[in-house]
Amino acid sequence: MEAVRIEDVIGEYVNLRKRGVNLLGLCPFHNEKTPSFTVSPAKGIFKCFGCGKAGNAVGFLMEHEHFSYPEALKFLAKKYHIEIEEEKITEEEQHAQDERESLMAVTAYAQQYFSRMLHNTALGKSIGLSYFKHRGFRDDSIEKFQLGYAQDTWDAFSSKAIEEGYKIEYLEKTGLTIIKEGKRYDRFRGRVLFPIHNLSGRIIGFGGRILSAEKDKPKYLNSPESIIYNKSKVLYGIYFARTEMVKKDNCYLVEGYTDVISLHQAGVTNVVASSGTSLTTDQIKLIKRYTPNITILYDGDEAGIKASFRGIDMILEEGMNVKIVLFPPGEDPDSFARNHRTSELEEFITEGAKDFILFKTDILRQEAGKDPIKKASLIRDIVKSVSLIPDGITRSVYVKECSVLLEVSEQILVAEINKIYRKRFSGKYDNFIPDPIIKPKSTLLKTEKAEVSKSEGQERDIIRILLQFAEEEIQIPENENNENTGLPVSKTDIQVIDIASYVVSHIQEDDFKFENPIYQAIYDLIFEKLEHGEFTTQEYLINYTNPAISQMVIDIMSTPYSLSENWRKNKIYVKREEDRLQSAVIHSVNAFKSRKIERKLAQHFKEMSEITDEEALQAKMEYIKALQDIQRKINSAMGRIIVG
Ligand code: UTP
Ligand code: MN
Repeated sequence: MEAVRIEDVIGEYVNLRKRGVNLLGLCPFHNEKTPSFTVSPAKGIFKCFGCGKAGNAVGFLMEHEHFSYPEALKFLAKKYHIEIEEEKITEEEQHAQDERESLMAVTAYAQQYFSRMLHNTALGKSIGLSYFKHRGFRDDSIEKFQLGYAQDTWDAFSSKAIEEGYKIEYLEKTGLTIIKEGKRYDRFRGRVLFPIHNLSGRIIGFGGRILSAEKDKPKYLNSPESIIYNKSKVLYGIYFARTEMVKKDNCYLVEGYTDVISLHQAGVTNVVASSGTSLTTDQIKLIKRYTPNITILYDGDEAGIKASFRGIDMILEEGMNVKIVLFPPGEDPDSFARNHRTSELEEFITEGAKDFILFKTDILRQEAGKDPIKKASLIRDIVKSVSLIPDGITRSVYVKECSVLLEVSEQILVAEINKIYRKRFSGKYDNFIPDPIIKPKSTLLKTEKAEVSKSEGQERDIIRILLQFAEEEIQIPENENNENTGLPVSKTDIQVIDIASYVVSHIQEDDFKFENPIYQAIYDLIFEKLEHGEFTTQEYLINYTNPAISQMVIDIMSTPYSLSENWRKNKIYVKREEDRLQSAVIHSVNAFKSRKIERKLAQHFKEMSEITDEEALQAKMEYIKALQDIQRKINSAMGRIIVG
């Protein structure tokens, strides 16, 4: 990280111009006409004030090039001629790696073999190729997707592969060869084949469509799971779609191989299929690496609708946006693309894309009709989907929309959502979980701020102080904790302490927790180091492997305290924060504690109202009184500092 110059790294992608100590350019992560993308060579970080993206050089590469963390490091090492000594892998790991390579050598060979069969044999041409042509697949598509054909013989492929030196062990492990009672068979016989590519374009498995009309055989047969083919983590077409998914900032999700290829032919290339399985969370996460937006394109029949309902909830749960296009019953994207012009397809998709709420309401409303009981269960169903959205602001927007569409008041919807939360969270977390309950009325943003966490500001302030001033020393009265008399203290009672230790000791003493899990994680890192007598540097955290942490640290560091600046502008002289550091730190710690106690109190009051036992009630009341005492002291101490 010391060798890396962030301006060089980003400069290869973005045209940067000098602006003061920083560099400025057009943000590569969102569309903008006036530059708001800032690079700070001194801090080694970038931040876009338009879209909020921020990070260091590694983060930039991960975001822009979709590198994994190690890939980004390797890229940088190469750029700065730093040799990476890969940790010696164990024999076991080496074996696994060799095995993966061996399996992929087999699948690569198989793809070539099946393509040869398709293009260069009489049967391949008359049966396989003519089938594809009949389906409307063009030569360039057949080429691009590396389609193939497997003859209808017992073991033509397996024999040839063995003859070429491929080991039976690997042929069996890829599932291309089946061994039964000492005999070997080809898995794919009399089928056209769709190779399945991984992210780097290598073949990891096949899907084979039957050509005869035999009823007892499945229409599609897929490769079995293997160490190179994990069905639930793979999406058909992702290798061909990923760059376009980023460019279009959207991903079309279809059912199968033929849909993907037909849409490609019609010029829609940001499309993938969850072929071979029903949609999984891992597949959704894979899409999320490229775009947060998914449009489901399914058949409008009952099965399609059901599948899309399931998909919607899973996508929402990942915090992504989902739209749905249903094709007329009996038509799927493949047949529609074949029977319509490209412009018609495009129009159908863009015009037909419905927000999930509109989509669900429409469908369920048709089903429910005027039946009030059915309508009630419809509302519950939709509310359940909304409750899955992790982001509070988005959730509130949907509550509003729902209320209009379903003609139900917002309060009732919110009450319903809260019921779901209570069920979902009951007993799972302690008192300090972020309160997911949303309040109706009042403007959205205000509600959201209050909701995110009731001590967000105080928590952030503590973290900021720990990041900025950890090593600075302050003087505090020795007896600070025991008695806050406000009387002048004599010199001998003064203790000099670094700010990190001061803050941490107060938080540890009462075992206060941060509601924001990222703050808690940052705090834990700082605390752990401090226990070993070390301070945590900003650099350490900015370059921390967990991007959520580094992003947050950058965010806090790049939005400095502006209070004093404003005051100075108005010609009111105030000492800078550093100058009045001591009182600022004490104030922040007190504000944090006060807010935390307030939250605890609220919890105890709630519990108190449910107590019926007289003795327990008495104990609870005493405990509450003690807490209130502490809070009063803290508050009055704050008052003094503010006034002073
Ligand atoms: P279809 O049944 O429409 O397949 O399923 P098709 O090949 O287009 O058949 P016809 O010509 O319409 O009768 C659509 C997609 O669903 C997947 C395949 O990927 C196919 O492209 N599928 C279908 C399977 O994975 N397995 C199956 O058994 C059926
Ligand atoms: Mn079809």
